[in-house]
Amino acid sequence: SESETEITYTVTAQAGETAFLEGEKTQTLGYNGSYLGPVLVVQEGQQVHIKTENQLSEATSFHWHGLKLPSDMDGGPHHPVGPDETMQVDFTVKQEAATLWFHPHALGTTAEQVYAGLAGLIFVEDDNSDQLDLPKDYGVNDFPLIVQDRTFDADNQFDYAGTYSPDGTYGDTLLVNGTINPYVEVKNELIRLRLVNGSNARNYTFRLQDGAVFQQIASDGGFLEAPVALTSVTLTPGERAEIVVDLSGYAKGDTVKLMDGNATVLALKVTEETDVQPALPEILNEIPESATDGAAVQQFTLSGMSFMVNINGNQFDMNRIDTLQNLNETVIWEVHNAQDMMGSMAHPFHIHGVQFQVLSRDGAEPPENEQGWKDTVAVYPGETVRLAVTFSEKGTFMYHCHILEHEDNGMMGQVSVQ
Ligand code: C2O
Ligand code: CU
Ligand code: CU
Repeated sequence: SESETEITYTVTAQAGETAFLEGEKTQTLGYNGSYLGPVLVVQEGQQVHIKTENQLSEATSFHWHGLKLPSDMDGGPHHPVGPDETMQVDFTVKQEAATLWFHPHALGTTAEQVYAGLAGLIFVEDDNSDQLDLPKDYGVNDFPLIVQDRTFDADNQFDYAGTYSPDGTYGDTLLVNGTINPYVEVKNELIRLRLVNGSNARNYTFRLQDGAVFQQIASDGGFLEAPVALTSVTLTPGERAEIVVDLSGYAKGDTVKLMDGNATVLALKVTEETDVQPALPEILNEIPESATDGAAVQQFTLSGMSFMVNINGNQFDMNRIDTLQNLNETVIWEVHNAQDMMGSMAHPFHIHGVQFQVLSRDGAEPPENEQGWKDTVAVYPGETVRLAVTFSEKGTFMYHCHILEHEDNGMMGQVSVQ
């Protein structure tokens, strides 16, 4: 039917105000609303048409983080949308089920626009995700969690300027889906949480309050081969993880908290009991091994701090192509975080238009929950991470640090795929 092969969305960037706190409302930006945006649900094989519209007073762009699509639809800094302008985005979904997101990517203003509220979600679904016996009742047992940190000033306004740091702006207040102190009411069943680190710079290490085990079922670009049992998962900016929490041992009236350090991210309040015995599928996905025998190696060295951040000694130049790659060729990207006299920090390394595999961290096999499709990977100080990168679309794609202030400060390069 028509609705299965094609889908149409409108995504409008607009200004508004949001009541986060008692009293004065906060001036915010959002897509189709005042803060954050809609969930665009698309199906593998579907033709997607998105009319993007900019009702802001400044240029923005619409970047689809994690989607494999032609570079002229990717919404990077080459494709700004001016005030009162629209841009039509058309593509066919050529990838498997995953939780992706979208956000602005205009030259030099990404960090501030995301901070103000511009971010939304994309759920890719496919035959596998349709068939897998997983919690998939949106808002019932399947919750996306966009996790962000913000600072409010005395008038309840976002204090981006006052707290700005060129090494990444942190906030003192946690927002989850734009809500302070969020909770959900659930049954004592399996609960799926699609965690999205939508912060400018902060890393989160998610855990359950009582240290209980949960299962990670998906990484950035799709399901893992099998659920991975964990007691914590760290996400750097831009990364996602889907986890499943088993509440079957709890009863009506119990509350289970997802934490980051000592901060509560989300309270799961059991308000109803069920005696359905929960079980996760043992196999979630088939992930082919990357064909890296004889593959070329391309080196990327991340260095500097603050306004000096760079990749291979260069800062972003829209008119410079930094590296070339052939379509459908697998190249090993060796990403090294240089220990610097000036200091060093972890950089979340993100590549547009592709889902890659992590081959190794300092020569060792990556942890099990990184043995799936990724588009953003943490590279810690001194570390060398090897990635198998195969582009299936032509054009010019960005790669950059997903600390948004680092990106804006030029920690970004361009790969031309031909
Ligand atoms: Cu999520 Cu180039 O970014
Ligand atoms: Cu991206
Ligand atoms: Cu960085």
